Amino acid sequence: MSSINQDLSHDTRARDGIYDLGSRAETWRHFWHPVATLDELREAKPGGRGPLQSTLLGEKVGIAEIDGKIVAFEDRCPHRGVALTLGWAEDEGLRCRYHGWCFDNTGKATEIPSLPPGATLPARARLKQYDCEVRYDLIWVRLDSSLDTQIPDFPGWDDESMHCIMGEPYLWACSSGRRMENFMDVTHFPFAHQGTLGAPPNTVFPVYPVDQADRRLTWKTETFLAANPGSDTYGPPTHPDSVMIPPARYVIEMPFSITLMFTWTETFATQIFMHATPIDGITCRSYWFTCHTVDDSADEVHLQLQDMVLGEDLPVVVTHEPARIGEPNEEISVLPDKPMILWRRWIRELDIAARRGPEELQAALDQVAIESEEAGVGLTVAAGRPVG
Ligand code: FES
Ligand SMILES: [Fe+2]
Repeated sequence: MSSINQDLSHDTRARDGIYDLGSRAETWRHFWHPVATLDELREAKPGGRGPLQSTLLGEKVGIAEIDGKIVAFEDRCPHRGVALTLGWAEDEGLRCRYHGWCFDNTGKATEIPSLPPGATLPARARLKQYDCEVRYDLIWVRLDSSLDTQIPDFPGWDDESMHCIMGEPYLWACSSGRRMENFMDVTHFPFAHQGTLGAPPNTVFPVYPVDQADRRLTWKTETFLAANPGSDTYGPPTHPDSVMIPPARYVIEMPFSITLMFTWTETFATQIFMHATPIDGITCRSYWFTCHTVDDSADEVHLQLQDMVLGEDLPVVVTHEPARIGEPNEEISVLPDKPMILWRRWIRELDIAARRGPEELQAALDQVAIESEEAGVGLTVAAGRPVG
């Protein structure tokens, strides 16, 4: 069987189906998550059509291209329940490896080889399919389509001035929430990324207004990177001496997508997009891109910086106890943890609302709270002082 996330078979940690802040898989099934890259599907089997097995929210999901359409389905043959991704894609459809039943791209069984030609096939002989779309060269799946959710926005992808490089997806032994918080948190830069993204004594980060609207949390920062040791400035790899032209912008699209946008010179901008797909409550797989204004730099240079940063984060983030975010009073937050505090609050609200039904979840998603305008201060620092 072709399968991604195979490392899970060696991961013996106990799993109880609970997600960040006590939430349930049912809540996050309403949202779109990438389950594989398009290349992973193409490379899974000779012929490039899969099938390929992935795991999303504890569920084994099969992906295959059948008759020109990429589809996602419960990886379970309705005949005797074996993994369909053990089978193969034919021109006629997806063939189960056990007794050879064949399914078309609507999920319907089109052939049961043990029956004589012309026999009526059981109406129930069909696959359970999921919403599936290819966007940004990623295969996105939504397990529950009872709510009108969208594939997260990734502005760099459609921006002709930007070159977007897909990084290798990575599987981390922590929840999607732990990965998300690690991404949105700047106060770890001077320590976890000492010498790379910052260093003491530049440890005080300002607290900015955060807007909640359009299913997103958005905030801007006047400063992002603490000054590097021995250097007044720190820029991206191909513009190392450039200074960030504020503001940098964070956009979290609930629940597990984040985009970070910078401008470095009048002509040079960068953007990082990441979605932390929940494999289960304590494991996530991050799909990500690093983008920059088109220039002649090698992709490798940009990927190396991200690899270095991720290499500094990983050993720390996989030691969280618990591996998913627990109850609010289990940890201590301080004011500069504000983005994480607001994200946690919204995650809890979404989960509570989802237990009451899709309409309540919709309402919880559509909440609006605009701090930047209310405060009348734009990007003015609300507390603390800028770094650097
Ligand atoms: S289990 Fe799939 S055809 Fe029998
Ligand atoms: Fe980090």
